[in-house]
Amino acid sequence: MERNPFVLAPYACKELFCDRKEEMSNILQYLRNGRNITLISPRRLGKTGLIYRVFDEIKTSGAEFDAIYVDISATQSIDDFIKVFAQAVVATLNHRSRIAAFFSALGGLRPLLSYNAISGSPELTLTYRGEEEKPTTLGNILSFLESGKKPVVVAIDEFQQIREYEGVNMEAVLRSHIQKLINVRFIFCGSKKHVMTDMFSSARSPFYDSTTTIPLHKLDVDTYAGFIEEKFLQYGKTIDSDTVRFIINWSKDHTFYTQTLCNETFMISKRQVSMEDVVTAINRILTANREHFLEIRRLLTAQQWALLRAIAREGAVAHPTASAFLRKYGLSSGASALKSLNALVEKELVLVSNTVDGPVYTVYNVFLSRFLEILL
Ligand SMILES: Nc1ncnc2c1ncn2[C@@H]1O[C@H](COP(=O)(O)OP(=O)(O)O)[C@@H](O)[C@H]1O
Ligand SMILES: [Mg+2]
Repeated sequence: MERNPFVLAPYACKELFCDRKEEMSNILQYLRNGRNITLISPRRLGKTGLIYRVFDEIKTSGAEFDAIYVDISATQSIDDFIKVFAQAVVATLNHRSRIAAFFSALGGLRPLLSYNAISGSPELTLTYRGEEEKPTTLGNILSFLESGKKPVVVAIDEFQQIREYEGVNMEAVLRSHIQKLINVRFIFCGSKKHVMTDMFSSARSPFYDSTTTIPLHKLDVDTYAGFIEEKFLQYGKTIDSDTVRFIINWSKDHTFYTQTLCNETFMISKRQVSMEDVVTAINRILTANREHFLEIRRLLTAQQWALLRAIAREGAVAHPTASAFLRKYGLSSGASALKSLNALVEKELVLVSNTVDGPVYTVYNVFLSRFLEILL
């Protein structure tokens, strides 16, 4: 099988992961100095990949920490949180006796362990006798980690999800436990900037000022271009630097989209990659996404779709409700434009980026943005 160096999973190995050296060394340094970290960026830029990269580095350079990764994006309640957290802990325990110790630390819950037939990952069933047992269980899991031989790093991915839990102030519950830990460090990772900022920088939130924030930006264009050229070469193909620049530019240097275009281009090209190959790859990607994009159109109002298309055509818009912009694209003005804009932001179809000159609006999904540019 021909191998493709442009992986679409968050992380495969160090060699196929571009840069992030500075972020990685900052994270490791903070962890070593007892800090908890908040990692924030828009979706699909590389937060999860970076966590795996950091964990890989920890593992291959002496394993100074035990590392636990928990993805809470699918959780809806404190029960779900405890379940995925406990499962993530079990997955890192490599001896039956440790698992037994963990279960006894869980107290009277009589946890039931099974393994998923397909993925092989551990699945836990926990039975509570009352609501009040839940925060205690969480405390027990953390105490277990606190008493381990090595310091522990827990990365909680899509952390903003805890705001969706009903009937519990999950931030307060977590904060009260986490505050006491000495041996356990946290990386809180999230893509909803306004929620994450409110959680960690607002004086009325339990986690206020308790972490060091690492913003994750787009990859440096020159570094990324060098990486792409090198990987094509290492895997038996040549590509000139103008073509690489075109790829990064078209995919707006948004990692997932750049990687996808590289993967597609690599797949369809012969030994010498041409501009035509890239254009073919782009057409294939847009065609593959077409139905999905038209589905989005059906879910929006005509006005929302028109505004989205206008933002795509501008590339980036600083004042999407300004009359000059609205007139240019034949959009109705005033309050209804603002309402549409808010709906698009809420649906994560439009991304708001804060710049020194104020907010700038772009279409979140780069492929959708390019699709809208050429849609009649
Ligand atoms: N440093 C990197 N080098 C190469 N590819 C990367 C890098 N960071 C991210 N990617 C690619 O981008 C995709 C999205 O990254 P991911 O870590 O899942 O983003 P996030 O967690 O911020 O949503 C990954 O699936 C991977 O293909
Ligand atoms: Mg992620």
